Amino acid sequence: MLRGEFQGETRMHDFYYDRKGDLCCEKVPLKKILKKTGTPTYIYSSRTISEHLAKIQKAFRSVRPLICYSVKANSNLAVLKTLVKNGAGLDIVSGGELFRARKVQCPGRKIVYAGVGKTDEEIREAIRARILLFNVESLPELERIHQIAKAMRKQVNVSLRVNPNVDPHTHAYITTGRAETKFGIDFDRARSIYLESKKLTHATLCGLHVHIGSQIETGEPFVEAFRKILEFVDDLELAGIKIKFLNLGGGLGVIYSDENPQTADEFAKKILPLFKKRKYQIIFEPGRFIVANAGVLAAKVLYVKETAVKKFLITDAGMNDLIRPAFYNAYHGIWPIRKQEHVARWVYDVVGPICESGDFFAKDRELPEMRSGDFLTVMTSGAYGFTMSSNYNSRRRACEVLVKGASFRVVRQRETYQDLVRGEKI
Ligand code: LLP
Repeated sequence: MLRGEFQGETRMHDFYYDRKGDLCCEKVPLKKILKKTGTPTYIYSSRTISEHLAKIQKAFRSVRPLICYSVKANSNLAVLKTLVKNGAGLDIVSGGELFRARKVQCPGRKIVYAGVGKTDEEIREAIRARILLFNVESLPELERIHQIAKAMRKQVNVSLRVNPNVDPHTHAYITTGRAETKFGIDFDRARSIYLESKKLTHATLCGLHVHIGSQIETGEPFVEAFRKILEFVDDLELAGIKIKFLNLGGGLGVIYSDENPQTADEFAKKILPLFKKRKYQIIFEPGRFIVANAGVLAAKVLYVKETAVKKFLITDAGMNDLIRPAFYNAYHGIWPIRKQEHVARWVYDVVGPICESGDFFAKDRELPEMRSGDFLTVMTSGAYGFTMSSNYNSRRRACEVLVKGASFRVVRQRETYQDLVRGEKI
């Protein structure tokens, strides 16, 4: 598998590859899709999505985990449906994500609900949907959920999200398992909440949740965190608290450039021995691992602008479509959709049309020469791409396409100008 830039290899990136100079997704040349949809467009490979889910299912089959795909990574209904059809549950963080989960008929017993700031209305909706577990992040939240469940005369299951104070060695913005972050509850506080919880008449604290961060490339931080939580769970059990669900979160890293992240099998080999002879229902919440490499953002080069110090490729996609480079200084490969033999290579900044200097996809990147009207893709954009997009600069959000074998479908239409002003009044 080639990482990073387009260099002409035949097989490049899961189901993205070069066929006689044309970049294809599964069996469809991207230029064929773009002819129909225009740009900017997100393109997803259905097969990559289901195979990545299967990789985790297989690697952990001995413990029969519930894989709750993390909806925030890519919440397109067709993507969710692909996963739910293949047995996944969903990890949600808002009423909106619950709405999507219901739209794709994900059974409530396969939905887990995390997040530090659930509103009363969201809690009510989740109780009505009979979700499997609330992943609770503070005592006031637990009290609120209990109060609401009691008023509704319903019983809810709860996992406390613990904060194990482990450094996942990833970007600060996506580190969640360290003590100074807003996530989870420290062990001492969690312990007293579990002990006190026996008094709760409408909430059962039967689970424990941990998620230490995202884009984690090695097993060590996970092992460190899981060792700590197992010790903690043992201690709880001695105190008479029964834990049924262990939700181990998401966080598996993927290849954007020259990373060498663990595979699902390697991850399982490191993790499974910790859980031997333990009878918990294990839950995972992968997001990026499943969808990142399944998606690209396709854009058109509008202009090639030269200044005294730079060459810019100005594209019709911008940071409103994909904010990861601007927000995390994240690396994404850039590949032309049509590869030409024997062209010069230049060092470009690939930028969008938005009025901010942070509006870039790549800086000082060596690429084959490109001209106005050429198409390129920003690779590995299937996770936290469209879901983090916005209407900044009153730009319409991109359309999304799902490819399956030799066919493709627009699974979200490009927004219209009317969409932009919906609900506004003068
Ligand atoms: N579970 C919880 C509780 C989470 O907060 C997250 C991600 C996941 C699971 C899924 O994590 P994953 O397997 O995708 O690493 N926007 C950032 C990533 C933010 C991750 C937020 N939480 C980015 O573009 O890198």
